[in-house]
Order: sequence, then C-alpha cells, then structure tokens
Amino acid sequence: MNSSRLYRLFKVECPSSLAGDLSDWLAQATGQPVVEEMRRGRSVLSVSVDRMEEISRLLLSEGARSLGGEVLPEEILSDGDWENLWKTQGFQSFRVNGWLSVVPEWETGSVASGPAIRIHPHLAFGTGLHETTGRCLSLLVDHVPADPRSGPVLDFGSGTGILGIAALVLGYGNRLFAVDDDPLAVESTEANLALNGFSRVAHVYDRFDPLFRVISDQKILFPLILANVTGNVIRHFLPEWYGLLAPGGILILSGIATRELDRILALCPPPVSVHRERRFHTLLLRRAL
Ligand SMILES: C[S@@+](CC[C@H](N)C(=O)[O-])C[C@H]1O[C@@H](n2cnc3c(N)ncnc32)[C@H](O)[C@@H]1O
Repeated sequence: MNSSRLYRLFKVECPSSLAGDLSDWLAQATGQPVVEEMRRGRSVLSVSVDRMEEISRLLLSEGARSLGGEVLPEEILSDGDWENLWKTQGFQSFRVNGWLSVVPEWETGSVASGPAIRIHPHLAFGTGLHETTGRCLSLLVDHVPADPRSGPVLDFGSGTGILGIAALVLGYGNRLFAVDDDPLAVESTEANLALNGFSRVAHVYDRFDPLFRVISDQKILFPLILANVTGNVIRHFLPEWYGLLAPGGILILSGIATRELDRILALCPPPVSVHRERRFHTLLLRRAL
C-alpha cells in the first residue's frame, strides 16, 4: 500500500437514529465502506468518493440530504488519517467467540492466546465490526475442522481479506482464491495477506470470470466458500458457487437484507442455519456428502 496517497472524503452529519439507513445507502451508492464517528451526540459518516465525478458527488449530496443528512465540506485525507478514522470508529483488537483474535495492524501489545489475524482496512470493508463480517467470523470459529485441511478456500467480495485470512488461520484450507471488483479492496486484501504471511498461497482477482476459468480448468472444488456481498450478487452467483462446493463443503452467504431473505431462501437448498441480525442476515449451507 502506498502510504502517501490522498483520498477525497464525502462527509454527512445526522442524528444517530438515521445513521443506519444513511450509512447503508451511502455504502450502496459509492460501493465503499462507510466510517461512522460520534460528534456531540450526532453521527458523522465518512466515505471515500475518490473515483466519483463531480456530478455524481452532487447527486450523492442530494440523496444524503433527502435522507435527513447535513452534508459537511469534503475533506482530503492521507492513508495515515484513515488509520485514525478507523481508530475513532472503535476498531481495536477483539476476540471472536473467545477464540480467534482480530488485531488492527497498528496495535502493538501482546495478543491473547489462540489463533490471531492482523488487519489494516485501508479503504476496504472488513474490520469485523460490521454485523455481517462478525457473523461470518463467528460461524467460521463455530465450524472449525477437527484437523487442518489442505485445499483451497474461496473468498468472494474479499474487502480487506479478513474472512479468507481467518479461514486459512483456522485450518479450513492451505490456499486462498479471493476476488473483489473494487481495486482498493484488491490492494487491501493483498496487503493483509502479506501482513499475515499468506501472499505465497493466495491469488487475488478483480473479477470472477477469469478466476472461474482457472477453477474450471483445474477442476477445483472448495470445502469452503465465503460470500459477504449483497442479495443481488448472491442471487446471481449462487448456482455457480453451489456447484463449486466439494461434497460436505460449506457455503456462507452474508449481507442479505431483510427484503431479500425470502427470495434467496427460495433459491437454495435448505440451509443448515439462518442467522437473522439487525439489518443483514447470514445463511450457512452445506453440500451433501
Ligand atoms: C460487504 S463487503 C465484505 C468484505 C469482507 N469480505 C467482509 O466480510 O467484511 C463486500 C465486498 O464485495 C465486493 N463486491 C461486491 N460485488 C462484487 C462482485 N460482483 N464481484 C466481486 N466483488 C464484489 C465489494 O467491493 C466489497 O469489497
């Protein structure tokens, strides 16, 4: 990662009661992670709009206002400032189900015993603080294989790479294929793979098509596929992902909004478990042996 890069930041202030809807809308409209801070009892949401034209940023302002937000002046931040923003958002080390530690790259103290992963989000989604990532991590810890497996894991929509890295550390496989169509997420995944010593066993793609060709040519089947994306992406790729599962393989689908849950449940075989959260839901499917 280039630490001297500058980012343009769009900022909206709103009452905390509106922050959830506004944050979801901003994430959808920009495809970027949204950072939330509290200032004087109100929420301030920040999102990178680096790759947006001025006209699109104007539309973003209009949309944010119509949802009750007050648009603040844009800010220019460096990568180091993002680190501070993640800190103020509360990204600090935590344990998943008392077992797996997730540690921000900049934390230096000793880590609790047990497996650990280190993450610097940079500009990608995936600290583990969001309910979708948190649930996926928790399911990974709950279903840890009795013996470490050799074989590949697929992380679709890898963001920071947090789920794929956790899967490798927990012994779900010894190779990783990650894909994300956001170039900043690809960079973040690669940086975090390096941070955790997995660069040599991982391949990161910016589109699924070329990866799918490699998978098909090599007749690869996955004991684990992770996809924390959105309902429409899940609907589109579900048949392919299911077909790529090894017998007994696990497919974890997350990021499913309430309005999308029934449509997705109707598309897939009965899940092993359905996890309903505040706004987004998660399914765990297992392919028959
Ligand atoms: C909600 S984030 C999840 C990040 C991380 N896996 C986690 O669980 O925290 C979804 C990610 O999927 C990526 N994404 C969405 N649609 C995609 C697609 N069609 N192909 C590849 N990546 C996609 C986004 O760029 C984003 O980084």
